Amino acid sequence: MEVVITETAAEAATLSADAIEGLLQRRPDAVLGLATGSSPLGVYRDLALRVSHGSSSLARARAFMLDEYVGLPVDHPQRYRNVIDRELVTQVDIDPANVYGPDGNAEDLTAACVAYEEAIAAAGGVDLQIVGIGTDGHIAFNEPGSSLASRTRIKTLTRQTRSDNARFFGDDVGAVPQHCLTQGIATIMDARHVVLLAAGRGKGEAVHQVVEGPISAMWPATALQMHPHVTVIVDLAAASRLQLAAYYKDTYEAKPDWQGF
Ligand code: F6R
Repeated sequence: MEVVITETAAEAATLSADAIEGLLQRRPDAVLGLATGSSPLGVYRDLALRVSHGSSSLARARAFMLDEYVGLPVDHPQRYRNVIDRELVTQVDIDPANVYGPDGNAEDLTAACVAYEEAIAAAGGVDLQIVGIGTDGHIAFNEPGSSLASRTRIKTLTRQTRSDNARFFGDDVGAVPQHCLTQGIATIMDARHVVLLAAGRGKGEAVHQVVEGPISAMWPATALQMHPHVTVIVDLAAASRLQLAAYYKDTYEAKPDWQGF
């Protein structure tokens, strides 16, 4: 696990966009894994700029979303597919038909989850997965207590997550759906490269746990310690609880140029 501490969240976004741009240069038809929420927004804005300048293209890329609320109307602005369309798909040159998400309105939600796993596998798996982290240590919507071997399935959101996400629903916790479909921890672990982004003091404890805590379903993101290629990119505030922050900074400063992410 590589830990990169940046002065600002904008710098973290640039580094993540650099990793995506590098991947797309090596593999124009790469499969990207997309998170929603506020953490990746800077990355998506940065990618949009690169596409408009012609330095990057997602024209041949495919993408899979991490999760989706269950039961939000198709035109609800906070339905994750709509958020991704607004924040990324319409801002870059990716083909919307190549962007997939779990169907939170499916009649048979269990079958939709199985189909989603099959679609990811049929695409050859995810090359680079962007993830944010919840204040309770969730990645995607794998809340504390999630099986570390889990696959795409329905989950109940914790009160904390619903309260954290109420800001997207006019500060009305009651408007945040209780259920979601989410890639499982094992689904995320199959991605070839995972880039975890976090900003702000509120993420400090979760970042400390994911990097330095014991592996535990109580902090589901800690499963990433078992992944061979994870890059954790956090701003100074999110890094505030890291015990080995000075070591991570020294390591990054001394990183050989050829190594990349
Ligand atoms: C969203 C997702 C969630 C968020 C997490 C952090 O697709 O999978 O795990 O990444 O809740 O949310 P923000 O980035 O809004 O702090």
